[in-house]
Amino acid sequence: MKGDKVYILGIESSCDDTSCAIMENEVLLSNITASQTIHEQYGGVIPELASRDHQKNIVPTVDAALKKAGVNLSQISAIAFTRGPGLMGSLLVGTSFAKSLSMALHIPLIEVNHMQAHVLAHFIELGGKKIGTQWPNSELLTPNFPFLCLTVSGGHTQIVKVNSHLEFELLGETVDDAVGEAFDKAAKILGLPYPGGPLIDKYAQKGNAEKFSFPKSKVPELNYSFSGIKTSFLYFIHDNVKQNPKFIEENLYDICASYQNHLVKVLLSNLIEASKIHGIKQIAVAGGVSANSELRKQLKETGGKLNWEVFIPPFEFCTDNAAMIAITGYYKFLKKEFCDLSVVPEARYPL
Ligand code: KG4
Ligand code: ZN
Repeated sequence: MKGDKVYILGIESSCDDTSCAIMENEVLLSNITASQTIHEQYGGVIPELASRDHQKNIVPTVDAALKKAGVNLSQISAIAFTRGPGLMGSLLVGTSFAKSLSMALHIPLIEVNHMQAHVLAHFIELGGKKIGTQWPNSELLTPNFPFLCLTVSGGHTQIVKVNSHLEFELLGETVDDAVGEAFDKAAKILGLPYPGGPLIDKYAQKGNAEKFSFPKSKVPELNYSFSGIKTSFLYFIHDNVKQNPKFIEENLYDICASYQNHLVKVLLSNLIEASKIHGIKQIAVAGGVSANSELRKQLKETGGKLNWEVFIPPFEFCTDNAAMIAITGYYKFLKKEFCDLSVVPEARYPL
């Protein structure tokens, strides 16, 4: 610690990105991510290969983050790391590294819930301002408490009520697949490379979103279910291809637009309900799927009708990154929420 400045070194290794960030209070000094491309050829993340790559990447990533930040290890106030949820083998690499570094430097260790970190990415400062964009009034850049956050990625689909930096209430979540999986598995069925979400988004822009319809799964309260939607998509494609072997190539844009529109409508219907029940109009999004252009468009359209203020972080802070771990570490540091060296990762780790 230098003066009243807190320097947090954050480590993220829950899935297939090895990331390290250095934060000076809420200001991001560096955020270096080594993304693994080896999984593309398998059409999904292979846990064993992910842990091996984390093992290879972690030391160079931490070195690069320190160098870019212009900070040396003796200045670091605490180490924050992702404890879960995630892939056990991947989490073990980051956890063991963080424990060793905290022990060697005699500084506190802070465990971070990855889902909480996705939400707190909204509070990162870069270049003298908060990173997010708020719609429609671009001056107010961070949500006020309490706000709702829809966290959507390849591994998660949740609606949370955020009462303060460290106080979260889970209002709803998927009971099976995440929405990112629903995008990626549909893309795979269409013969598109992994991860297919961004390609569905791209092709959808040229298609008719009303051409095909898909069933909505019934789930209690504010929860989601995407596995039935995915299966119905599989049958829809099989049945049509049986009648017309060129069905996919002749209708690719319309299939992507209709399917994407369906997923976005499902996501928004619970969010609208949550906003009504809790009387909250500050709405944030987080996670890789928040890059989806239709989701962004419909959030703004719905927000316009319901008087929402919508908060969307830049893409690099939506996908997995260590800056979100470091900012969460900073808030926990202020409250002295440290953990001891006996801490172990949790593949399933509720908020
Ligand atoms: O947060 P993230 O990088 O990793 C985790 O899963 O934690 O999210 C990756 C997910 C993948 O499923 C990917 O297909 C999806 O985000 N994704 C998108 C878009 N960009 C990324 N899905 C739909 N449209 C996009 N533009
Ligand atoms: Zn994530």
